[in-house]
Amino acid sequence: MKVLVTGGAGYIGSHTCVELIEADYTPIVVDNLCNSSAKSLERVKEITGQDITFYQGDVCDEALLDAILSEHEVICAIHFAGLKAVGESVAMPLEYYRNNLLSTLTLCKVLGKHGVKKIVFSSSATVYSGDNEMPLRETSKTGNCTNPYGWTKYMGEQILRDIAKADGEWSVVNLRYFNPVGAHKSGLIGEHPNGIPNNLMPFISQTAIGKRHHLNVFGNDYPTHDGTGVRDYIHVVDLARGHVAAIKYLLSHTGEGVFNLGTGTGYSVLDMVKAFESANGVSVPYEIADRRPGDLATCYAEPAKSREVLGWQAQFDQNDMCRDSWNWQSKNPNGYDD
Ligand code: NAD
Ligand code: UD1
Repeated sequence: MKVLVTGGAGYIGSHTCVELIEADYTPIVVDNLCNSSAKSLERVKEITGQDITFYQGDVCDEALLDAILSEHEVICAIHFAGLKAVGESVAMPLEYYRNNLLSTLTLCKVLGKHGVKKIVFSSSATVYSGDNEMPLRETSKTGNCTNPYGWTKYMGEQILRDIAKADGEWSVVNLRYFNPVGAHKSGLIGEHPNGIPNNLMPFISQTAIGKRHHLNVFGNDYPTHDGTGVRDYIHVVDLARGHVAAIKYLLSHTGEGVFNLGTGTGYSVLDMVKAFESANGVSVPYEIADRRPGDLATCYAEPAKSREVLGWQAQFDQNDMCRDSWNWQSKNPNGYDD
């Protein structure tokens, strides 16, 4: 059974390709490589022993998608393709709205034309409004996004919800990811951020390997157990498996389903630093810096709905996340450029 995977060469997409293959699905990848390398797919082949059908191109290109769907009978799509850097989205809103929304609109149009009315969408915990109580449930308030990236996820969900309302044959699943970290245990695929990482875990591993002098801890005066920000880190392989569970759900339901993919446990920045040091026997020098504008003190999921409805729950713990991040980083100090 073939699954169209947009953005499949990226961090989460490549890990999902591995899990799809292991669950006997055949990924058909389309990616324009604007934030990834085709080497990730060669590595997926190394892990799974299977070739991946790959189209290098843009998901906003309707003719390309039409040709792919004429060539391959797919059962559904997983839509990872998108731009994801929060700061960049503030500086380049037009490019973010264009890329992230047009890709979704184009994909849905072509899927509908081919009668494939099933899609899993990469949404984010960022769609939740900042004034919710923790933990975040799928019914918690959304909106009040603080940047264009967040709005593209909010609007992407809404587009899919409206499509499912208008045509009862559609089945859409909006997956709200918390903080994906870690890498496949082989150390062959992982996260390869361009330039200076924005997110905590790649910054920690680049500091541990000596590419960064120290980690700046953004604020130690939040109302948390040690004053630093608390997040729900989830191993990327668990996240990838959540997509396999979502496909099974898609195939037996219509309408819209929305699910948190998180562990339900929050760790602070300093918890993560200490866990990384002790899991890997390395040192992560850090300094306390000012708060990062727009950050919340605490953000973690209530994952009960995913457990009860999708039959999915995270298996890996904080130690696994730290070990696997370091395994990838130390084997590939320059990511796929090595
Ligand atoms: P990534 O940048 O590694 O992967 C995205 C992939 O999409 C890249 O390979 C990129 O080249 C491709 N792409 C972007 N625009 C495209 C287009 N128009 N046509 C074809 N390919 C295109 O990012 P990721 O971390 O793997 O994230 C995957 C998805 O999950 C994104 O939509 C992201 O917004 C969402 N998400 C990520 C996180 C996270 O922390 N990583 C959290 C929440 C949601
Ligand atoms: C970021 C994005 C969010 C996205 C999420 C998932 C921002 C403002 N938000 O959120 O839209 O959905 O990633 O990947 O970028 N930290 C440091 N030093 C660093 C980096 C981070 O102290 O160098 C702290 C942050 O202040 C935060 C925690 O580490 O408390 C996690 O940060 P990060 O990895 O950027 O994730 P989010 O803030 O959850």
